[in-house]
Amino acid sequence: MKYKDYKILAKVTPDASYTVSMEQDIFDTDNPLIAGKTGSEKVLFVIDRGIGEKAIEKIKTYAAGFSMDAAFLVLKGGEDVKLGWDNVYRVVDKAEDHGLDRKSLMVLVGGGSVLDMAGFTASILHRGIRHIRVPTTLLSQTDAGIGTKNGINFRGQKNLLGVFNTPEAVFIDPSFLHTLDQRQISSGLAEIIKVALIQNSELFRWVERHYQDFLAQEFENNEMVTRIIWQGVLEHIKQINTDPYETEQGRPLDFGHQWGHRLEIITGHAMNHGEAVAAGMAIDCIISHKRNLLSSTDLESILSLLKAVKLPLVYESAAAAELWPGLEDFRRHLGGELAITLLKGIGKKIDVNTLLIEELEYALAYVKEQVQ
Ligand SMILES: NC(=O)c1ccc[n+]([C@@H]2O[C@H](COP(=O)([O-])OP(=O)(O)OC[C@H]3O[C@@H](n4cnc5c(N)ncnc54)[C@H](O)[C@@H]3O)[C@@H](O)[C@H]2O)c1
Repeated sequence: MKYKDYKILAKVTPDASYTVSMEQDIFDTDNPLIAGKTGSEKVLFVIDRGIGEKAIEKIKTYAAGFSMDAAFLVLKGGEDVKLGWDNVYRVVDKAEDHGLDRKSLMVLVGGGSVLDMAGFTASILHRGIRHIRVPTTLLSQTDAGIGTKNGINFRGQKNLLGVFNTPEAVFIDPSFLHTLDQRQISSGLAEIIKVALIQNSELFRWVERHYQDFLAQEFENNEMVTRIIWQGVLEHIKQINTDPYETEQGRPLDFGHQWGHRLEIITGHAMNHGEAVAAGMAIDCIISHKRNLLSSTDLESILSLLKAVKLPLVYESAAAAELWPGLEDFRRHLGGELAITLLKGIGKKIDVNTLLIEELEYALAYVKEQVQ
């Protein structure tokens, strides 16, 4: 077994723990892992069209090979799939047409957007149907697909409607990564760099040394690529296990996200999630440096890596006044007092309660003048 040791239990609560494991060829007809999660129960596969026809056919062949009582719903992936209720209704209709009941299983295969929307639907259908996730982008394999959050965008806000809901299992199959384009790879690296910055400096150095293998799509038999993906998973799970339902005021996994989410919205999602988070992190690193928390050398290394990974450091026409409301959106998302994660070194986070618009202006000017 290629990924024998790549398995971890996410211990959310004793009633809601689940395994996250790396698996080779999860939909090979001799791999019983998913089929073994269901007996005679009905199954609905919700599949991201972005994985390609060949992969979709492979899933159908898999279900037929194990005589699963399965239906398939293939949806166009990407952020739009989370826009409002339309796709939630589509999943519900398909589930109802196939006669799913509370013992049925949903198998969600796709990027973070399809997983967020379909995971949300699974949690409200019949007050909750079991689901398994097979994340298919680098970002969803190391972040969006492995945690407790599900949701859709509404009233121009990201994830305004959503739930905490745990899957029964998450299977990370790196063979899906081969069809990703460079922007999606870079976007996934942004979230790996994020966890490295807040809690694991060694992971940061690994990415510094090996990001080119990711950009060159050299995933096959590449031990360091596998280790980096898996370490990204472990760092995320560490945080999820610490605060699975986000009751604490600090949200380290949301590092850079107060600006990132805002950038996604004001660019009409022309910036994808990872790109926007990277730009948000760049701003917060510059603010950390201005506050004498982060050294010039560390700031330099971070901005250089983000650039090398082909991540934009800021949306070219972003003005402080446009980004600033992101802070209040974020405060409302936290409830109560604002807690923003900054850095006091690579791998060391610190929470602060205030930011000034002058600091944001400074950071945007810094990027324009000194970095781009
Ligand atoms: N729930 C969470 O905890 C959490 C965490 C982080 C991000 N997110 C959310 O995840 C979303 C971003 O997810 P994403 O980065 O996976 O992007 P995505 O799901 O929006 O997908 C991006 C594109 O990749 C395509 N795609 C999917 N798999 C593919 C494959 N194997 N090969 C080729 N193309 C493929 C999709 O069809 C889409 O066109 C955002 O909405 C973000 O807010 C959620």
